[in-house]
Amino acid sequence: MSKIRLSTLKQNKAEGKKFVALTSYDASFAQISDEAGIEVLLVGDSLGNVIQGHDSTVPVTIDQMMYHVSAVARGNQNAMIMADMPYMTYTSEMSALENATQLMQAGAHIVKLEGGAWLSPIIKRLTECGIPVCGHIGLLPQSVDKLGGYKVQGTDQSGADTLKRDAQVLQEAGVDLIVMECIPSDLANEITTSLDIPTIGIGAGAGTDAQVMVLHDILGLKTRPTPKFVKNFLADTSSVEDAISAYANAVRNSQFPAAEHSYK
Ligand code: KIV
Repeated sequence: MSKIRLSTLKQNKAEGKKFVALTSYDASFAQISDEAGIEVLLVGDSLGNVIQGHDSTVPVTIDQMMYHVSAVARGNQNAMIMADMPYMTYTSEMSALENATQLMQAGAHIVKLEGGAWLSPIIKRLTECGIPVCGHIGLLPQSVDKLGGYKVQGTDQSGADTLKRDAQVLQEAGVDLIVMECIPSDLANEITTSLDIPTIGIGAGAGTDAQVMVLHDILGLKTRPTPKFVKNFLADTSSVEDAISAYANAVRNSQFPAAEHSYK
């Protein structure tokens, strides 16, 4: 297998071929996921929840992200490593550049930022400097206290219009990919078809160009409340390797997510 690049993912979108992302926090799971053909390993700040035991991603620091990115990079050969920029590390162009540089030097191939149109100048600066960027709209876990909890976003007309505009503005600013979290399936489909860049959904239905899930969720670990969009792929398999492959196959064959994992 050859190295996954942004051009690979863009080609997939052009050909209507779904690709697969999965969170990864250490070298062993990175190796297993890479060998299973997962295209994007997301070193998510969800590590604040599933590794550190916090009830949000807010406490995660740039040093902790660098530690996990470098571990994942050591286990990986071909997948694209995406690293979350943690809470308050991209509030200005300067801080975003400094912190994204650290993640890239730790082994990331692309950084992910949560937020809408207001991120435009920051994204432009990062991309001008040659750093690939993934946007993240919809439910923004770093803003959980402002949003009043982990809730589906874009359910009314004005919320949906804001998300559609955010997606266009982020694309114009230069993002290469966009994650859409917890939004109605129809809205996610509409945004996906309106964009040239690939979309990656989580709780956004089956119409996005790719899916991302938290590793612990597809392995059925119930150490925190499990959202509706989660499926335990270990339940019908007998090893972690098989569960990860089953998840990847189900996404590629459009069997996951099903209607029961999606929002109207
Ligand atoms: O941190 C994370 O795992 C994420 C996913 C929920 C997309 O950002």
